[in-house]
Amino acid sequence: MFTIVEKQTLAPTVYRMVVRAPEIARKHRAGNFVILRIHEKGERIPLTVADKDPEAGTITLVFQAVGKTTSELSTLNAGDALLDLAGPLGKPTHIERFDGATVCVGGGIGVAPVHPIACALKEAGNRVIAIIGARTKELLIMEEEMRRASHELLVATDDGSYGHHGFVTDVLREVIEREGRENVALAVAIGPVPMMRACCKVTGPYGVHTVVSLNPIMVDATGMCGACRVTVGGETKFACVDGPEFDGHQVDFDELAKRLRAYVEDERRAMQIWSEQRAGHRCHG
Ligand SMILES: Cc1cc2nc3c(=O)[nH]c(=O)nc-3n(C[C@H](O)[C@H](O)[C@H](O)COP(=O)(O)OP(=O)(O)OC[C@H]3O[C@@H](n4cnc5c(N)ncnc54)[C@H](O)[C@@H]3O)c2cc1C
Ligand code: FES
Repeated sequence: MFTIVEKQTLAPTVYRMVVRAPEIARKHRAGNFVILRIHEKGERIPLTVADKDPEAGTITLVFQAVGKTTSELSTLNAGDALLDLAGPLGKPTHIERFDGATVCVGGGIGVAPVHPIACALKEAGNRVIAIIGARTKELLIMEEEMRRASHELLVATDDGSYGHHGFVTDVLREVIEREGRENVALAVAIGPVPMMRACCKVTGPYGVHTVVSLNPIMVDATGMCGACRVTVGGETKFACVDGPEFDGHQVDFDELAKRLRAYVEDERRAMQIWSEQRAGHRCHG
């Protein structure tokens, strides 16, 4: 069992959980994720390790309640425990001292997985420019953490309630223009599929290498089931063992978006059944 030692609401439907997992905290590297199961009847879901404290033996998960399992997870509190937590999984981010600035772009919940990458790039001696965005100021997460993880932090909100009025892609273009294409060595973009695709469209014409972290549905996370199949550069890859990070200019985003929608009806039903059961429990005390 993995005890939750801290829980915090970061924004409407977005939660931060610090979980005791000493082995994972010790072995984790930027880009890794875990697979968790709340209880024995629960499904397995992947979440990125957003932060770690090897001395305290804890990892931090930041998640958005979008369906049945993440909503159920959001009802747990400090003192509760998760049944299984497997990890660290996935290939770690390729980190080196790059010859030029590195730009880390996080959109929505994508700020959480971009955070350890920004930290690792900065620690390796890179100049890190961070761009984070959300639909509104209220939904923006981990601003202070990203400020500490970077040399310069730029913010965008879709409605203009904070920072640049518009998308992170506008800011990304401005940064590349300002720095000069030859002075930008790497872009890392993590967030919803349309946002990652749009970031790659911006960086493509400048020839800036762009890494994205893909989020297909995962089941076993060991490369056996094929659920997380994605196409990168015309080749089939399994995001759980070959990724989750890939060269964004090679990713078939259309296929990814289509595969993410494959179980929408089942997901809706699972959420409905769980909500009804929960309401029933509440009525009966
Ligand atoms: C490697 C990896 C790392 C991830 N890290 C994080 C993280 O740090 N924080 C976080 O909040 N989420 C993360 N996700 C996404 C998270 O796993 C899903 O949101 C979760 O599995 C949804 O489960 P559910 O039962 O709550 O919702 P479901 O009912 O299964 O899905 C509800 C809706 O959410 C969307 N959805 C489903 N699965 C995914 C998915 N894998 N990615 C994106 N959208 C999905 C679909 O639109 C779906 O209709 C990650 C996914 C992967 C593959
Ligand atoms: S989740 Fe089964 S192969 Fe990746």
